[in-house]
This record gives sequence, C-alpha cells and structure tokens, in this order.
Amino acid sequence: MKVLVIGGGGREHALVWKIAQSPKVTALYCAPGNPGIEGLAECVNIAVDDLPALLAFAQKQAIDLTVVGPELPLTLGVVDLFQAHGLKVFGPAQGAAELEGSKAYCKMIMEKYSVPTAAHRTFTDAASAIAYIEAQGAPIVVKASGLAAGKGVTVAQTKEEAIAAVRDIMENRIFGTSGDEVVIEDFLKGEEASLLAFCDGKRAVPMVSSQDHKQVFDGDRGPNTGGMGAYSPAPVLTDALTHEAQRLVLDPMVRGMAAEGRPFVGILYGGLMIDNGQIKVLEFNVRFGDPEAQPVLMRLKSDLVDIMLACIEGRLDEITIEWHEAPAVCVVLASGGYPGDYTKGFPIHGLDRVSDPDAFVFHAGTAKRDGAIVNTGGRVLGVTARGASLQEAIDRAYQNVDLISWEGAFCRRDIGAKGLKKR
Ligand code: AMP
Ligand code: GLY
Repeated sequence: MKVLVIGGGGREHALVWKIAQSPKVTALYCAPGNPGIEGLAECVNIAVDDLPALLAFAQKQAIDLTVVGPELPLTLGVVDLFQAHGLKVFGPAQGAAELEGSKAYCKMIMEKYSVPTAAHRTFTDAASAIAYIEAQGAPIVVKASGLAAGKGVTVAQTKEEAIAAVRDIMENRIFGTSGDEVVIEDFLKGEEASLLAFCDGKRAVPMVSSQDHKQVFDGDRGPNTGGMGAYSPAPVLTDALTHEAQRLVLDPMVRGMAAEGRPFVGILYGGLMIDNGQIKVLEFNVRFGDPEAQPVLMRLKSDLVDIMLACIEGRLDEITIEWHEAPAVCVVLASGGYPGDYTKGFPIHGLDRVSDPDAFVFHAGTAKRDGAIVNTGGRVLGVTARGASLQEAIDRAYQNVDLISWEGAFCRRDIGAKGLKKR
C-alpha cells in the first residue's frame, strides 16, 4: 500500500514511525513532513491546508490510504474532498470534525446526548457575555468557539480577567472569526487525562490512557502551551474510570453523531477532568493529541494501518487492538521563550548521541539548514522512551534529553511525576 500522512509535527513523526512498521506499506509519503520524518518517508512540500494540491498529489501517486494528522485540514473538509474522488482517507468528515472546529457545536451535542461536561452558555455578542460573567462571578472559563491553536481558552480567576478575555476575543478579534462566538463555562477542578479512541462511525474503542502537561513550567505553572510532555498510562484513569468514560462519554458521542447524520470515523480525543471519581469532558479533539500520540503510539503493538482500515470500513468489532504493557514518556524540548516569542535557527547538538533502542526522538519544530538541524518552532523535539516501570521510562527519557542541546533549549523536569504519586 502507498500511504500519505498529512502534517509535519511531532504527532505526524510518531504516526509515520508507526505506519512505517506495517508490512502492508510499500511506499510512505508525508506532506509537508519534517527533517525527522525524512528518514522514514518521502517528504513532499505541500501545506496541510492546500487541499487541491494534496488531492492532486494523492491522485498522481495513486495513494491507497491518506492519514490526516492535524485538525485544520479536517475542519476544512479534506476527508470529504478525498472521498468524493474515490480516495481512502482516515479521519472524520467536515461535519464530524465540527466537534473540534466549534466548541459551541460540541457543547450543544454533549448537552443533547447527556455527556457530562461543565455547565455553559454560548454568546455571539460581547455585552451579553459580560453580563453573564458579572452574574456568575469567578473562577470562570472563557473559550473562543473556533480553532485557536490551543490558545483560545482563558481560565479566569477573577471577573476582570474573564471580561478582558471576552473583549480580546470578540472586540479585539485576536483569533479572527474563531471569536465570532464564545463559550463561557463553569470552572472544573480535578486532574486532567486524555482518552483517545479509534472510531468507525458506529463504535469507539479506547486506546490506553495518557496525560498531557499543558502549562509551560514545572508544577503546572505559567501559561498554557500545546503540551510540554505526556506519558501513558495515566494512573488517574483507572480501568474502572476508563469503563465509565466509555459508557458515559465515548459511546453516547459516537451514537449521537451517527444520529445527527455525521458519523464519526477517526480518532475521538476526549480531554477529561477527573474529580473524586467523577468524569467531565473539557473538550473533544478529532485527531491524535500532540504530544500524547508519541507515548501512546510507542505502546501500540498492533498494526496501525489495519486499525485505520477497520475504522474506515466500519468493522472495528472484527479486530483486536493490542498494547505493550511498558509505560512510555515523552518530554518536549522547546525553544527558549516559548510559548511567547523565541529565536529560531540555532543548530541542535547531540541528536546523533541518542542510540538507546528504547528511546526515540520525534521531531516537531525543526528544519535543515546548511546540513545542520536547527530549531524552527516553539516545540522542537519530543524525546520519548519506554521502561519496565513509569519511573524507568521517565529516567530513560531524561537521560536522552540530556544528550541534546541548543541555545535556549528547555524542558519541564517533572513529566510523569503526577503518575508516580499515584503508585
Ligand atoms: P480546552 O482547549 O477546552 O481543553 O482547554 C484548554 C485547557 O484549559 C484544558 O486542558 C484545561 O486545562 C483548561 N480548561 C478548559 N476548560 C476548563 C474548565 N471548565 N475548568 C477548568 N479548566 C478548564
Ligand atoms: N495535547 C493537546 C492537544 O493535542 O490538543
């Protein structure tokens, strides 16, 4: 099979790494890819939102399966376009991708199908949103409804902060049309976990659990980022709670979306808040998490291509998905200053020193310049390792992190620590 992966971040490097292991795959392409992916797939310089060029490439190469990594092409309808031209593609169609593309739509669906989530209201004008905040008080959470690259959520500790967020979104338009609507919801306390599931339109099969680290600094301090590291499994999601999440969250969502005439095929990612054994949904994403994909895919024993084909063909019930017991940890190395401004173009040293067979360095924001690998993004590398225990996986990840350096590089030093406390 000829396979095309769309995307060029750490998640896509992990997808390519796993797909390349499938005996079914005879040729592997990635658009646009990155220097890490180059060793495993042929990178083609097409942007993830250039749908006509992606389609033309897939047709010319007679691609048998296209796998969509990021949310943007999904919300733009890349799946619908490929299907209309008779091409096999893994991911939700545009209507189903609206679960991530519109938080207002997502909340409406959760409410309609009784999926537990924070109480909320949706607003299309700033004055009513502000009046609601005045009445509700703080803490309170303000979300731009549309895509905002993970930056559209403000967890406000004061009314003033919440009102400023509404003004930024709706009046200063800092996220453009993604701020046409805002969702304002109750603050939820607890511990977060990510539960991703393979979906075939009729059923959801959960993957092993994982936990992201959204804030930039140790101890969950500082501003939110795209994710500074992840590990799997996340002991906060016990087997009993995973079972509850299937019953209360995944099953009703998949059944609900089918009833809406928007069957969900692809990866449904539930961002969950767990408090005293109670699960509430913070959000849904319609694709693998980044960096959750890195440790989760490292733990997948089964052939990912087989699973994706079963999803597309509506026969997830016919296959068994197997996982490695060994925990895995991904530590993100970021550019100094991220998630604020940072300097690009520093040569990265030490990549060739990583030779541990139980560790792998996934590239995210890198480029090749004059023969050297340099940093070009905020999140640059995801150093991922497995171990017999979570502690061993953490130690191995950091041993390999410490082999790599560039000017300003930093990482969190406590990835996985919450998981250790639970033992
Ligand atoms: P979201 O993109 O909706 O997942 O929000 C990003 C992050 O904001 C989440 O991972 C949480 O850390 C935080 N967050 C979102 N909604 C809430 C909420 N209702 N209560 C507390 N924290 C939240
Ligand atoms: N790690 C969070 C996300 O992928 O949205």
